[in-house]
Amino acid sequence: MNVAEKVYLGTNLKMYMTNSETRDYLYKIRSLCENKGSAHLQLFVIPSFTSLAEGTALVDHKQILIGAQNMHWAEQGQFTGEVSPRMLRDLNMDLVELGHSERRMYFGETDEQINRKVLSALGFGFIALLCIGETKEQKEAGQADEVLSRQLLIGLRDVEPREVGRIWVAYEPVWSIGVDGRPADPDYVAERGRSIRQTLYSLFGKSGETIPLLYGGSVNLDNASCYNDLDEINGLFVGRYAWDAERFAALIDKVGQS
Ligand code: PGA
Repeated sequence: MNVAEKVYLGTNLKMYMTNSETRDYLYKIRSLCENKGSAHLQLFVIPSFTSLAEGTALVDHKQILIGAQNMHWAEQGQFTGEVSPRMLRDLNMDLVELGHSERRMYFGETDEQINRKVLSALGFGFIALLCIGETKEQKEAGQADEVLSRQLLIGLRDVEPREVGRIWVAYEPVWSIGVDGRPADPDYVAERGRSIRQTLYSLFGKSGETIPLLYGGSVNLDNASCYNDLDEINGLFVGRYAWDAERFAALIDKVGQS
């Protein structure tokens, strides 16, 4: 199926829900999403590490993919406190989110480190969901496209052509994310989307066009269609708004119709 025919919709639960809260949430999502899944809609949920074992066992992976919020690139080793791709594969993980701005900002992750994680995630058979985005200062300095291009060129360096089908990109302007974020103007997102597409084309040629490009940052029921309807955007990556199962289901109805 052509990437443009499919809508991607998912949420990163960040560091909010306990295991039992995640279980309740996924139960609700599972029943609310019954009969909503279709070949045209790809749903995904990214819980905390502590909820992954139960999370992957709980959902029908044909309907909802489960992802991890981060991982180390090494298969195993002397890396106290880290989680390896081998551990995630053992849990039947579908995807790994890499390079979220909070990882870059608060944990000092560099594009080079993120690249190692991307290559490792692909090597272990996961979908690699690479998050990119410019800060407010970079936007105001007119550097947004340059920053996005750099994050892609380094983050996706050395990805084999045969692995391109397992890359997803989330464009999340840092200034639009979280409690202090403000939703981006859809025209601005479309412009950045075109620039991202150009970089993906320069990296992978025609097959770069098949990479799903998601928008994230203060998405809610009122603005979801403004982003999802853009030609450049294939879906939405949602934080706060989707952490209530009923609201996530309402988003599914909304973008599933558009
Ligand atoms: P938000 O988070 O929807 O709460 O702004 C988005 C994100 O961090 O991916």
